[in-house]
Amino acid sequence: MADRLKQVVNHIFSSNMSSADPFEKKVNLGVGAYRDDNDKPWVLPVVRKAEQILLNTPSLDHEYLPITGLPEFTTAAAKLILGSDSNAIMEGRVTTVQTISGTGANHLGALFLERFYPWVGKKEIYLSDPTWANHQAIFKNVGITPINYPYYDPKTIGLDFNGFLNALKNAPNKSIFLIHACAHNPTGVDPSKEQWNAIADMMLEKGHYGFFDCAYQGFASGNLDNDAWAVREFVKRGVNMLVCQSFAKNAGLYGERVGALHVLSSSKEAADRVKSQLSVLQRSEISNPPTYGARIVNLILNDAELFEEWKRDIATMAGRIIDMRQQLYKVLTDELKTPGNWDHIVNQIGMFSFTGITPQQSQALVEKAHIYMTANGRISMTGLNGKNLRYFAGCLDKAVRGEL
Ligand SMILES: Cc1ncc(COP(=O)(O)O)c(C=O)c1O
Repeated sequence: MADRLKQVVNHIFSSNMSSADPFEKKVNLGVGAYRDDNDKPWVLPVVRKAEQILLNTPSLDHEYLPITGLPEFTTAAAKLILGSDSNAIMEGRVTTVQTISGTGANHLGALFLERFYPWVGKKEIYLSDPTWANHQAIFKNVGITPINYPYYDPKTIGLDFNGFLNALKNAPNKSIFLIHACAHNPTGVDPSKEQWNAIADMMLEKGHYGFFDCAYQGFASGNLDNDAWAVREFVKRGVNMLVCQSFAKNAGLYGERVGALHVLSSSKEAADRVKSQLSVLQRSEISNPPTYGARIVNLILNDAELFEEWKRDIATMAGRIIDMRQQLYKVLTDELKTPGNWDHIVNQIGMFSFTGITPQQSQALVEKAHIYMTANGRISMTGLNGKNLRYFAGCLDKAVRGEL
């Protein structure tokens, strides 16, 4: 609890300090949303187009949506994450409910499992160590106790694959594991395809349940299908699971709260029962999900031209982040010859990077260089741009050498 509190305070503190700091060269690397090369929020051009279409459709009203959401949206959202050729979808084994973005999907999924999962022992969920800070609170809120499984190895600044696999092996049968589908937050460390396969083998052997959280589809590699690979593979192989999906990052619709929960069942009959249970839960929580964001995403997913444009927008965002990784790596290794190995900067994936620096070094960066980041050394790559990258690299170099 003390650690969690520290994390929260540190986060609030660093973002507040950043906005109050008049220093011209200050850099905010604590931000959890995409920024363009001018450090500004970016409304995707495809979203602007979809908004214009909505504005010019006078037949749209402001009635309630069905409890489970806008049907065309939920159908298209399921295909986006599970694949349009998904057998599970064709067999009617997927129940999709529109949620309040990814957070709402996590919450509804957690609530659903708390009520209906065939618990053997205690109500517990295994979370990666570390994970998105909100996971702990979301599960505790519904009476499920979070426990950690090893994920990040500070020695290699990479995946603690053996630790992860051993945790799967040693957990009681039918345990629930929360798994980041791609672009793990906060580490940026994802398993390789070979490692994913071994994880799936162990999940199947032990009868574990996969609680997949997919907040960054497209954002990791720049390609929506590549980033859904693990989810689709686990579904194909018959792992029992659900998937939380967010359109906050990949459509830049942070404040519109558009997302979905997909629960996989073994038969259409079971899926129908899940739908009625989820409807009852959703009714008492939010009555009906909001329309605006779902309408935008629905237009994009169901119009071939808009969909192609969206893919280009996603590639622009992911491409800029990958470019920042490569530039940072180059300046640190080729130019500054910063002590240590920096391969992880280019090997990690998605918005965040664990730099591997010590809490003292990150504190020095905040206090002496006006570079705001979390104490655990996590930086948001989207806070870097053509104008501040060299300043950041120079300060990081000095911090590592103990000269800041
Ligand atoms: C791993 C993970 N899951 C879920 C979310 C939820 O985001 P939202 O509720 O904005 O979709 C986030 C946001 O940062 C995240 O990083």
